[in-house]
Amino acid sequence: MVEIKTDEALALMRESGRVTARALAAVREAAAPGVSLRDLDEVAHAVIRDAGAKPAFLDYHPHFAPTPYPGVICASVNDAIVHGIPDGYRLRDGDLLSVDCGAYLDGWASDSAVSFTIGEASADDQRLLDTTREALEAGIAAAVVGGRLGDIAHAIGRVSRAAGYGIMEGYGGHGIGRQMHEDPSVPNEGRPGRGFKLRHGLVLALEPMLITGGRDDWHTAADGWTLRSNDGSRAAHFEHTVAITNDGPRVLTLP
Ligand code: MF3
Ligand code: CO
Repeated sequence: MVEIKTDEALALMRESGRVTARALAAVREAAAPGVSLRDLDEVAHAVIRDAGAKPAFLDYHPHFAPTPYPGVICASVNDAIVHGIPDGYRLRDGDLLSVDCGAYLDGWASDSAVSFTIGEASADDQRLLDTTREALEAGIAAAVVGGRLGDIAHAIGRVSRAAGYGIMEGYGGHGIGRQMHEDPSVPNEGRPGRGFKLRHGLVLALEPMLITGGRDDWHTAADGWTLRSNDGSRAAHFEHTVAITNDGPRVLTLP
């Protein structure tokens, strides 16, 4: 069931989104050669804790996973696409890191992700990063009252496919509110004019995950969480929590 949020709820979700945005910004600031993924997890945890919020991912146990999630962030390096567990791995110059983070503040969830390189990006990495961000922006631009869910999916998919990247069939965005994952699910590819009609108060997490390989060229790693490309090709992930409003799309996960 799709839950439409009140204006009061949207304001509370904006505050939750601010906390998540600040945690991601702190992680990005701290990410450097020699810093471990676990260090970054602690950076995010401190920001969320200091804001009086709770990590949304820690101990989250969806049906597809073998264990509750052990981190505050997902930290996916290079050929890890999403859901990388923050471990003792130390970042190196040239690594491509995707960081996903979520928080609950006053019972309201927010979910956002960014990707970036450690040091200077290669031309290939830069193009992947730019395209994934553009796909998210296209999805956000389509998140307008009177549109349909398929418009968002189509907008994300069109940018991704035009650049020749794979998207992860079966993975995508989702409704979000009192729970991190709510209806509807938001595919990263679709047909315009189809699906749920967008209205004021609908809140969605939009999250293109692009891989330089083909669409089925990935697998779940032995930890049961990390999704990895089969051929070692790199991936990027950007995500925002976005409210559809009468005044246009409102990105809730900005600082
Ligand atoms: N943005 C990710 C998603 O919606 C968050 C995953 S949290 C995890 O799938 F705990 F499941 F990793
Ligand atoms: Co999400």
